[in-house]
Amino acid sequence: MVNRARSRVLTLAALIALTAACTGSSVQGRPGASGLRDPYFPKAGNGGYQVEHYELDLDYDPEDGRLDATAVVTARAEQGLSSFNLDLSGLEVEGVRVQGAGARFNRTGNELTVRPAEDLAKGEVFRAEVDYAGTPKPVVDPDGSHEGWITTGDGAVAVGEPVGSMGWFPGNHHPSDKALYDITLTVPKGYEAVSNGELRSRTDTGDGRTEFTWHSPEPMASYLVTAAVGKFRVTTGRTPSGVSVYEAVAPEESAAAAPVLARLPEVVEWGGRRFGPYPFSTAGSIVLPQDSLEYALETQTKPVYPGAPDEETLVHELAHQWFGNSVTPRSWQDMWLNEGFATYAEWLWSEDHGGLSAQRRSEAFLAGDASVDAQARPGWDAFPPAAPPGPDHVSDPPVYYRGAMVLQKVRQEVGDEAFFALLRGWAAEHRHGNAATADFTAYAERATGRDLGRIWDVWLHGAGRPPRT
Ligand code: ARG
Ligand code: ZN
Repeated sequence: MVNRARSRVLTLAALIALTAACTGSSVQGRPGASGLRDPYFPKAGNGGYQVEHYELDLDYDPEDGRLDATAVVTARAEQGLSSFNLDLSGLEVEGVRVQGAGARFNRTGNELTVRPAEDLAKGEVFRAEVDYAGTPKPVVDPDGSHEGWITTGDGAVAVGEPVGSMGWFPGNHHPSDKALYDITLTVPKGYEAVSNGELRSRTDTGDGRTEFTWHSPEPMASYLVTAAVGKFRVTTGRTPSGVSVYEAVAPEESAAAAPVLARLPEVVEWGGRRFGPYPFSTAGSIVLPQDSLEYALETQTKPVYPGAPDEETLVHELAHQWFGNSVTPRSWQDMWLNEGFATYAEWLWSEDHGGLSAQRRSEAFLAGDASVDAQARPGWDAFPPAAPPGPDHVSDPPVYYRGAMVLQKVRQEVGDEAFFALLRGWAAEHRHGNAATADFTAYAERATGRDLGRIWDVWLHGAGRPPRT
């Protein structure tokens, strides 16, 4: 009897718990963190959830610069959540729904805090819909460059490295949270609207507008998401190994861009041999009117260029598809894993096509011989690539050039065969994932069976100019 009574009590307790769980009233959430404590951008990203998918629906009018949008963020709660944050800069939030129910929200700085009607349970997959609108303003980076939604001669382009994406859509804007994307862009007839991945449809809506839907089947960090609106000339094709290519080029740039973009399939194939299979189903380029941006960016599958690129820049941004876009830094401290590798790819392309060898170029940097490489000037060695002195330095020359020299040092040490196996192995090991500097150093030693500690100490982490040996 005693046992039976006890088991009945338990059953009753279980029933109550189950009922409570179903109505949500038993979930005791707490607020998700307002930042991920990135060493350089502590408020970037948010804690308590991981995004699985973004659906962005943007209506843009280049004539008045107004954006009218809805973002549907599907995420998994990693803790019970009474509230969670999204990063958003500027614009006006008109309404937020979570799991279909109206949610309260408030904004401070670049943080949009959402308080769902009911707390979210740990492990729960939830859907947050944000309606927002306004005239987006560029985000000014600590290094003074402009990101976010940038107006161009005849349209606009969105670029997000490192923290510009909050200027045009609410999200978990840190590279460690990669997600899938479906992006719909509606623009006045006569304009093209381009984004990452595959063009799924292009429809006249009947009211003088055209709707473009873009699908990204592979995970993407939010700083690599782009949208470009303009009067582009569009051409499509395929690489020899079957990757589809979409080129959108500002008409006034098309003559200068044509011979360079004609080499894109060849660069993608070359990358496939040097770094392993191209990580995405599509490739391409967005060539903007000259000077509409301060830099080129490796936006996923379709890098953006401020005017016709030269061959080195094309190679650099395409190399980022492996190093940066597929293998993505865990934090902004790991930027050299992007830029050192993409710069090294330029050196390698040159070496493989009858130009300077990477060794010769490395030596030119050490000698400060700008007649060999114009970048080999004082400054490349100002700080160790794995430790930029602040968020305003994560895109400085040492991250690029001294980062590339780290790789050349490893190559010198282990020989060509082991080195190229290492490059391919690294890209394969973290394909579509995230990796930190310590992951790379550990992987390199494991893959080559060598102690490379001195190279890391001197070249990657050490202050002062590395010795000329
Ligand atoms: N990652 C870009 C490239 O090297 C450069 C981005 C520069 N951004 C900046 N905020 N400084 O291709
Ligand atoms: Zn780069």
